[in-house]
Amino acid sequence: MTTDQQTPPNETAGEYPKFYYPPENVVENANVTAYAREKGFANADELYAWTIENPQQFWGEMATKFLDWYQPWEKVLDDSNAPFFKWFTGAKTNVVHNAIDRHATGANKDKAAIIWESEQGETKTYTYAQLAAEVNRFANILKSQGVEKGDRVTVYLSRVPELVIAMLAIVKIGAMHSVVYGGFSTEALHSRIEDAKSKVLVTGDGGWMNNKIVELKKITDEAVDRAEDIVKSVIVLKRTGHDITMKEGRDHWWHDLAAQPGMDDPCPTEQMDTEDPMFMLYTSGTTGAPKGLVHACGGYQVQVATTLSFVFDIKPDDVYWCAADPGWITGHSYIVYGPLMLGATEVIYEGAPSYPNPGRWWDVAAKYGVTILYTAPTAIRGLMRFGEEWPNKYDLSKLRLLGSVGEPINPEAWRWYHRVIGKDRCPIMDTWWQTETGAFMITPNPTTPLKPGSGTKPFFGIEADVLTEEGEPATGADDGLLVIKKPWPSMLRTIYGDPKRYVEQYWTRLPGFYTAGDAARKDEDGYYWVIGRIDDVIKVSGYRLGTAEVESALVSHPAVAEAAAIGLPHELKGQAIHPYVILRQGFEASDALAEELRKHVGKEMGPIARPETINFVPGLPKTRSGKIMRRVLKARALGLPEGDTSTLEA
Ligand code: WTA
Repeated sequence: MTTDQQTPPNETAGEYPKFYYPPENVVENANVTAYAREKGFANADELYAWTIENPQQFWGEMATKFLDWYQPWEKVLDDSNAPFFKWFTGAKTNVVHNAIDRHATGANKDKAAIIWESEQGETKTYTYAQLAAEVNRFANILKSQGVEKGDRVTVYLSRVPELVIAMLAIVKIGAMHSVVYGGFSTEALHSRIEDAKSKVLVTGDGGWMNNKIVELKKITDEAVDRAEDIVKSVIVLKRTGHDITMKEGRDHWWHDLAAQPGMDDPCPTEQMDTEDPMFMLYTSGTTGAPKGLVHACGGYQVQVATTLSFVFDIKPDDVYWCAADPGWITGHSYIVYGPLMLGATEVIYEGAPSYPNPGRWWDVAAKYGVTILYTAPTAIRGLMRFGEEWPNKYDLSKLRLLGSVGEPINPEAWRWYHRVIGKDRCPIMDTWWQTETGAFMITPNPTTPLKPGSGTKPFFGIEADVLTEEGEPATGADDGLLVIKKPWPSMLRTIYGDPKRYVEQYWTRLPGFYTAGDAARKDEDGYYWVIGRIDDVIKVSGYRLGTAEVESALVSHPAVAEAAAIGLPHELKGQAIHPYVILRQGFEASDALAEELRKHVGKEMGPIARPETINFVPGLPKTRSGKIMRRVLKARALGLPEGDTSTLEA
């Protein structure tokens, strides 16, 4: 499709091309090329134009191309109650049928679904048939604990196959999972249990990270003690085998429950309506507590399967590795559901990328012959720091495609990833999307000429733009608000328990359009450049954290009267947290107290939220109505103009 190849530039001499073109064979063999040709188009751009004219036809075709349905839909899109859009109405489905059941009984039954390795050196492989048996058993276990269709089950585990098994089993019986990232801690877990009202929680004794045990059960106990009236049953996976306390009547070992009679009896996969909720996932937003974003059974799977096939170009013999955590949306869509729907073989790695040495990831990639690697800029920057000699020790010749997600990738890291890991032959899919969008929205595909740092253009069927606050196109070098102009199948359906907030948060700033909360720029070639968040979200190592949660963790410490957190640039993490703290009377600022507060936030929220510095201050800039102006704090910290401070309290 793309034919105007150019001479490869000499990167070390500092000559960079405007575009990086994908290799001809990658373009020629791409899934998306095949589909474009089937539709009679010469290239992906022509296909895109058609999908924008005919989005419903496009998504309808995708729904049949990639998935099976118990009962077909009547309408692809029902927009009669916008912005509460409905997709594939009238159909019956379950993603577990598409991800597990049909493979386990079909040609893929003996194919490896998951190859798991931990930093401690353990490995395990599950074929599709074995995975189906595990999911079936755990579905019966959940039922034995009283879980019913529509119930929420909180899952708090490290990156083990049982996390995937638990999620699939929950959806199999029509319940909703609420996965809490295993790196979060007591208060983060507690507030999510409290909001979701989960009567059953799945956890483990511990997990491994950098040769240390993460105390999952201990943290669970502290969190559940604060929500005793809600959680009735805690299912505990034996993973690390270290000593933990089990509470009589409430806590049960996974393996003991599995030994109950009847647990291997076939458990039917629940036939769901397409708009039934499938899962919720908490994420940080503009203000206040994290919100539970709800995704639905029908459209989510369609867009996840389509994007994974067309962007990461999964073929039957690929070995795909998404190094994210299943506890975040990237893991939900592109570890748990996407690859399994497509019948792929995937690698899951538990632990630190540099344990026991900085070659570990490359060792894993070489050992399993990974062909597609999808990770985050922070991980690339982290591994880049150890030098090229580490990846160069391993055979990475099987790699065909690379991916990036979670924050803008700086061109330097992009070029290193492209040259050192991809040996100049693997295009990088820089995928822009969000927990809210469920699947890729702005992303290259393997036929797209790339520019380092740009997510290129919207995916097929997706209409995006960059607009000013007045709704006019932002032009030239000006940034504007990144918006999505039309509904898409994997969109969030609501905020759990708070539909009003869903409308206010996403659909009112520019009426009729979805505002993403990101600032972006569109260049002369129509390429999108995402600049970053325009709200109180901080992206630490690609993880999405809210200032409000960090602040509330700080004020839960007896020394703190008031706190305001901001994110400032950090070389490896992208952004790091820098709170400003007013102390209560009787407490004095000191290095020891600063350290204590950092630890306190780490304990309540999790190690990723641990602040970089603590700034003790006598006051905070506030509006006359008492709202803290974090923007002013940030400008001051960066030595930038403070902007409009007319509402600042005198
Ligand atoms: C940011 C992660 C630039 C963005 C899938 C977005 C990105 C937020 C990219 C969502 C990218 C994600 N380039 N920025 N390729 N991908 N972001 O919900 O600010 O954890 O709004 O979803 O991450 O974060 P979330």
